[in-house]
Amino acid sequence: MYIQKLFFTTAIFMFVCIYAFCQKQTGNNSNYVPQKKIICNNGAVVSAHWLASKAGVAILKKGGNAIDAAIATQLVLAVVYPAAGNIGGGGFMVAHFTNGKNISLDFREKAPEKASRNMYLDSAGNAQINASQDGHLAAGVPGTIAGLFASMKYAKLPFAVLIESAINLAENGFAISASQARSFNRTKKEFIELNFSTIAFVKENEWKAGDVLIQKDLANTLKRIRDNGQKGFYEGETAKLIVAEMQKGKGIISLEDLKKYEAKERSVVDFTYKGYQIITMPLPSSGGVILQQMMKMIEDKNIALMQFQSAASVQLMVELERRAYADRAEFLGDPDFVNVPINTLVSTNYLNARMKDYVPGKAGSSKNTMAGIIKESEETTHLSVTDMDGNAVSVTTTLNGGYGSRTVVGGAGFLLNNEMDDFSIKQGVPNMYGALGNEKNAIAPGKRMLSSMTPTLVLKNGFPYLVLGTPGGTTIPTSIFQTLVNILEFNMSAEEAVNKPKFHHQWLPDIVSVEKDFAKKIVKQLENMGYKIVIRDAWSKTDLIQIQNHAKGSKTIIAVGDKRGDDDAQGY
Ligand code: GLY
Repeated sequence: MYIQKLFFTTAIFMFVCIYAFCQKQTGNNSNYVPQKKIICNNGAVVSAHWLASKAGVAILKKGGNAIDAAIATQLVLAVVYPAAGNIGGGGFMVAHFTNGKNISLDFREKAPEKASRNMYLDSAGNAQINASQDGHLAAGVPGTIAGLFASMKYAKLPFAVLIESAINLAENGFAISASQARSFNRTKKEFIELNFSTIAFVKENEWKAGDVLIQKDLANTLKRIRDNGQKGFYEGETAKLIVAEMQKGKGIISLEDLKKYEAKERSVVDFTYKGYQIITMPLPSSGGVILQQMMKMIEDKNIALMQFQSAASVQLMVELERRAYADRAEFLGDPDFVNVPINTLVSTNYLNARMKDYVPGKAGSSKNTMAGIIKESEETTHLSVTDMDGNAVSVTTTLNGGYGSRTVVGGAGFLLNNEMDDFSIKQGVPNMYGALGNEKNAIAPGKRMLSSMTPTLVLKNGFPYLVLGTPGGTTIPTSIFQTLVNILEFNMSAEEAVNKPKFHHQWLPDIVSVEKDFAKKIVKQLENMGYKIVIRDAWSKTDLIQIQNHAKGSKTIIAVGDKRGDDDAQGY
């Protein structure tokens, strides 16, 4: 009897242990509430999904550095956050290493060789926005996998170790969150319209929180990348599947485009602000240049005295946002293809002159009646990492719109971007973020489309102090700008700086967007100055790490995930 009881109890115990282990392995914990903040001493990762942040920290604990953790986190995001985490899109990485070196990696998508200046115009010369945003023809040549492999020269662990969690989660599945379920349900119609094969994101009934998403095709693609490196994506079976998918839907990416794709290491944008050193992304992201312009235009204005989100401080920031975004539209494009007068754009004389016509208390005007349409879906994703040694990595990647082109590569299980819409498809026609451009950002084969992504680091006395970034299309640089001003000028905690309401102005359309929780009293005062205010749903999702007390061995890491999404901060 005793033996039977012992056997029974042991069997139950083992069952519970195995069940708990499987839950952990597959991420089937539907009750998980994202951890918004952690204070720790060794290393931390913040990203748009808890499974990705945890995978990153697990790599740090295995002896990986911040680059290893960033690679593992990005690969898991491609599985658990399909709206923006990706292998079919592109992005940018900015990193600081303890030897003092700062790097930036450009793995932005490129226009395919068959792309041409007017490819999205009909015979009457009208822009066909659907073609640049929906389906196969909207996709640029993906850059993410090339970017991750380009960063491997700074990594410590083998790629096979870094990709393991992503493969497990794609193969065995994970429980989706309530917001992910809503997002799949909202996009169901487009998924069906824009795909020729059955895709993992569509099921007969509505998705609900806790449903398990299994992605076998994606797992097989990830295994090919594990086994064959970069060629596992850009050549062989995966490349053939991409091209076969293109042929089904009038897409133009070829085997040659894929084989030729290369990520590029570029010199960082590097400037000082009141003694802090700010390291951020250069062109073809506009983010770093306009962040520098905005920070430099505000540096001598004593904004701290005006106080956080008073009508005066908001007006000042709106006016310099207006000027920076006007320059974005006029001057910026892929530096491999066009000349950009960067030195002038960030020079003190030029920026002082730009602010000459700023009148406190009175709204400026963008003097152009063209109005862009800003969509609500601004799906990019960011991850911030720091490790035990003090290396810091900031990575922003995107498919462009939510789920990109919404087209999944049949048999390969991953979504393709709709980044071609970030080109200026016709002068005067705004992209999906309402941003305008001209010839500098016109389509040309092999060219990279202008971006707003702004992965950023702030160094204090030479040590990483802030690691941050956010999704949000054209709102990215203004969100980063405001988060920095919140900390460096208004002395806010990391948590407050991230979660306080944001506002946004981008020259055209000539409106000021404010998040829903922005103070109504200030809205009234800004309207009285002559601003047109539009209240919108939240757009920023800043993932930030602050490192205090830099001396090695005694530092405090404060990692914060934005309250606005499922963003999650992990550390140890
Ligand atoms: N696709 C949004 C950006 O790159 O700015």
